[in-house]
Amino acid sequence: MGDFLNAYSIQHWLESCPQGYLEGTEDGHLAGEKEPELVLGDPLLREQAISLTVQLVAGERCALSASSGLINAAPDEPSKLFLATQTLDEARHVEIFTQRLYDLGVKKNELEDTIARYANPNLVKFAEILLEKVDKGDFVAGVVGQNIVLEGMAFSVFEMLYAAMENANPKFAHTLTGTIADERRHVGFGENRIGSLIEEFPEKKPEVEKMQKEMSYYMLATFADRFRDNALLEERRRTTELAVAAGQTEEPQAQWQGKNLAALEPDEMEALLSDTVLKEFKIRLERIGLEYQTPQTP
Ligand SMILES: [Fe+2]
Ligand SMILES: [Fe+2]
Repeated sequence: MGDFLNAYSIQHWLESCPQGYLEGTEDGHLAGEKEPELVLGDPLLREQAISLTVQLVAGERCALSASSGLINAAPDEPSKLFLATQTLDEARHVEIFTQRLYDLGVKKNELEDTIARYANPNLVKFAEILLEKVDKGDFVAGVVGQNIVLEGMAFSVFEMLYAAMENANPKFAHTLTGTIADERRHVGFGENRIGSLIEEFPEKKPEVEKMQKEMSYYMLATFADRFRDNALLEERRRTTELAVAAGQTEEPQAQWQGKNLAALEPDEMEALLSDTVLKEFKIRLERIGLEYQTPQTP
């Protein structure tokens, strides 16, 4: 438990995160970085950027609610302390993505209406399944749902977004860098802490596996909706085209998982993301002694 205590202590968090990779950032990006003029000046691109960012805010609000809710359900002190650091990480994620909505021109008094209007209903269901476990004080299911399923998904989505947006929108890409580093730590905690609890309470397995299957279904349904909507690809294509024309960047190359995202059709991109996330679920669940359940196809 010694390494576990060190790796997930507040001291470690302070040194590696606020005094480490976040040092010098402002709302998660470098000071002075702005949204591209093209996005701000084009009503369609702006709406698409808002719609994408709302999904991030919705996901992070769920993570904030879950990580804070799990503190009192945690059976040991080190887990409580780690979850306290995670709570602050998630609050920061909510804040920086909310700030992006403001940067995109959403007025403060329109925030909740904007989120309600654009939040994907399947993502809302995904969150509800997790928060139901958290509300019951079910630590094992809550940590699997949050630190393996929700954050495994977030981790891959953020990595893909980073690869797709690195050239087109450095400000947005930079907010993702710190977030990805945070999510990596959160997923690591889930794997390290929950394996021994699954061994201790094997009777929990079927219920937790059922939750994973349901959450995975709503995740795939969210991906299907988003790629059908085609928002991200359109934003990326047009911002990159403009940057190439202005001589600011080379021809688009956005490597992720061995593929050039710039060359993929929406359905190919959806398949690549879904396969990547589900494969990672499988590996992580096996490591903690759970059997991955294949979700239905939405
Ligand atoms: Fe987060
Ligand atoms: Fe997280």
